[in-house]
Amino acid sequence: MTSNTNYHIPVLTTEVLEALNINPEGIYVDCTLGGGGHSSQIVQKLTTGKLICIDQDKDAIKFAKERLKEYHDKIIFTNDNFAHLEKILYLNGFSKVDGILIDLGVSSYQLDTLERGFSYRMDAELDMRMNQSSGVGARWYVNNLTKEELAKIFFAYGEEKKSNRIASFIVAARQEKEIVTTFDLVEVIKRAVPYHQNKHPAKRVFQALRMHVNDELGVIKTVIEKSIQYLAPKGRLAIITFHSLEDRLVKTEFKYYNMECVCPPALPVCMCDKESLIHLITKKPIIPADHEVDENFRAHSSKLRVAERK
Ligand SMILES: C[S@@+](CC[C@H](N)C(=O)[O-])C[C@H]1O[C@@H](n2cnc3c(N)ncnc32)[C@H](O)[C@@H]1O
Repeated sequence: MTSNTNYHIPVLTTEVLEALNINPEGIYVDCTLGGGGHSSQIVQKLTTGKLICIDQDKDAIKFAKERLKEYHDKIIFTNDNFAHLEKILYLNGFSKVDGILIDLGVSSYQLDTLERGFSYRMDAELDMRMNQSSGVGARWYVNNLTKEELAKIFFAYGEEKKSNRIASFIVAARQEKEIVTTFDLVEVIKRAVPYHQNKHPAKRVFQALRMHVNDELGVIKTVIEKSIQYLAPKGRLAIITFHSLEDRLVKTEFKYYNMECVCPPALPVCMCDKESLIHLITKKPIIPADHEVDENFRAHSSKLRVAERK
């Protein structure tokens, strides 16, 4: 039986609770339920309030439903992509909410479960889908995308400097034999990049494939837009990211929704009618304290940004 801490140790929990500034009678959304670590803290603060818990991974819903069973009267569980926030809120009869949490990326459970095919350290069929009942897994992309498409993904999402070389090796290798497992792919990457300082040679490519398979950056813009649309005045949006691409995107989106005008500076008067919709609660992201990183290494790259609806 997977324990709560084996499933996933939540990061920046104290900071998230402070950021959400929870009203016990309010409506909250945890867009990334995972093992329910953050949700268990949020729900304990609610009296008549409700918590909507979303995860696109069926395993997360199953695990957290059991973990949070004593709070079922306050929780609505939804197995869906958070990009569908608008539909989820509509179907559950909510037109406004008081706080939204998004803890991006994958859970430790997903990374550490062999059959999910996320890890370059364990041999399994290449999959990497957070939602295993939708779309195609990494195996299909690796064997079907062109060299240019693969290189673009490795460079854009993994910031892999040898992306062209690795993509060429993949295309050559799959002409001999289909790339089926994580170790098949690791072997090809090791041949393309035999020397890699410090990091595992496959780390960046695996990260990039995972982000592509799950359209991880694509859904961030959508969920921020929808969150801001559905937050009540003074409602808070808290987003935890784990790498620079995600953080940059959240920072840019928050900046955009905070701006009052997007007219070119040369225009004598404002013509855009844009409205500033949020206050930035965090000018710089909140990062974990040293003791948290000592206890949970996966927290080391986490960053929390918080905005408040005007
Ligand atoms: C970092 S974990 C969240 C951990 C959680 N906060 C906890 O305390 O255990 C991210 C979770 O979000 C889910 N997830 C990621 N992207 C998603 C999306 N677009 N829609 C719904 N769930 C998503 C993953 O399946 C995973 O379970």
